[in-house]
Amino acid sequence: MTTVLLIGGGGREHALADSIDRSPLLTKLYAAPGNPGIARLAECVALNPGDHDAVVGFARSHDVDLVVVGPEAPLVDGLADSLMAAGIACFGPSAKAAMLEAAKEFARDFCARHHIPQPGYAPFDDIAEAKAYVRGRFNGGACVIKADGLAAGKGVVVAEDEAEAFAAIEMILGDANFGGASLVVEDRIHGTEASLFAVVDGPDAVMIGSAQDHKRAYDGDKGPNTGGMGAVSPAPALTDDALATAWRDVVEKTAKGMAAEGMPYRGFLYAGLMLTDSGPQVIEFNCRFGDPEAEVVLPRLKSDLLSAMLTATSGGLGHVDFRFDPQVAVTVVMANGGYPGAYETGGVITGLEDDQPGTMVFHAGTTAKDAAITATGGRVLAVTALGDDQAEARAKAYARVKTITWPGAFHRSDIAAG
Ligand code: GLY
Repeated sequence: MTTVLLIGGGGREHALADSIDRSPLLTKLYAAPGNPGIARLAECVALNPGDHDAVVGFARSHDVDLVVVGPEAPLVDGLADSLMAAGIACFGPSAKAAMLEAAKEFARDFCARHHIPQPGYAPFDDIAEAKAYVRGRFNGGACVIKADGLAAGKGVVVAEDEAEAFAAIEMILGDANFGGASLVVEDRIHGTEASLFAVVDGPDAVMIGSAQDHKRAYDGDKGPNTGGMGAVSPAPALTDDALATAWRDVVEKTAKGMAAEGMPYRGFLYAGLMLTDSGPQVIEFNCRFGDPEAEVVLPRLKSDLLSAMLTATSGGLGHVDFRFDPQVAVTVVMANGGYPGAYETGGVITGLEDDQPGTMVFHAGTTAKDAAITATGGRVLAVTALGDDQAEARAKAYARVKTITWPGAFHRSDIAAG
């Protein structure tokens, strides 16, 4: 008998709600704020995750047994700490542990201390020193510049040359609005990207799946970076060998290292990897599930996610073993045209009712208005399908996408095409 409060209202949280809803342990699911898709599974409540007293008060007054935090911002802001201090179980890392995502220099230094494979890097808080490092280390200036702190996806610049690198350094260190405090300059590494997801409780970690997302806005990996325009699970490029190496050298070392340093990690850990010729290297960590990766990883999960999360909050994760559907999952994100830049909102979505077996439509940026569902976010829906192989899953996902539309709808046509 378990009452759960899920924090968040995007596609990731809809996928989490779907998995939690499948658990026989669930008695009641609340979501704050939720969305119209989640509202079919949960009672949506208006709670500001930044108001920790309000979240604690709600959890107490509604006999919530477990709070699951979807997005990174409330975690970095210490929501898990506030809940734990109030004696309320929370699945999501403490603010200190969430520094693995929020503090780039901390994460790089942590990996260095624990011999976790990663690119060369150096931290800077001075514009001239950062530029001198770029000029001295990189012939031509190609490198990666990362702002410290959360920057809503705008804090990472993959610079092609010195001019781009210098512009990024000036933008980050010279702009008080950007945080302005510090950045990390990293070597550019080459290979195929893949992401690995784990449920972590202190030194213990259990694999929940892998995925590859498509970050660029347009076909052919062109256009600006987005939160992700589609994904496939398992990650096609992650061979069994690479998976075993990444698990041992990245995830296990991270869980054990954080625990050993007195910052035990609890929650989803997202390891963004580059599969290089010399093995997997960490591009970044995130302290939450990926979006839209959750929309392909979670539909393949056969085991009880809620049970695993409850076990993680009471220290028995070593006994959890996830089972997966052998099928491949593909998700195609339907967005408002213009995303990730400015876009029109409010188009009425049609075709949502046309259920097709083996497909799921996760709401990411929708609003219920009168009797209609409108497209109000940048990313609006994540349309997922399972298939015996990638081609079948992709064909089914796109067949479902074809049935859904609204004025201004936009999607990539080459997700999982490779
Ligand atoms: N899809 C990338 C992310 O969730 O960060």
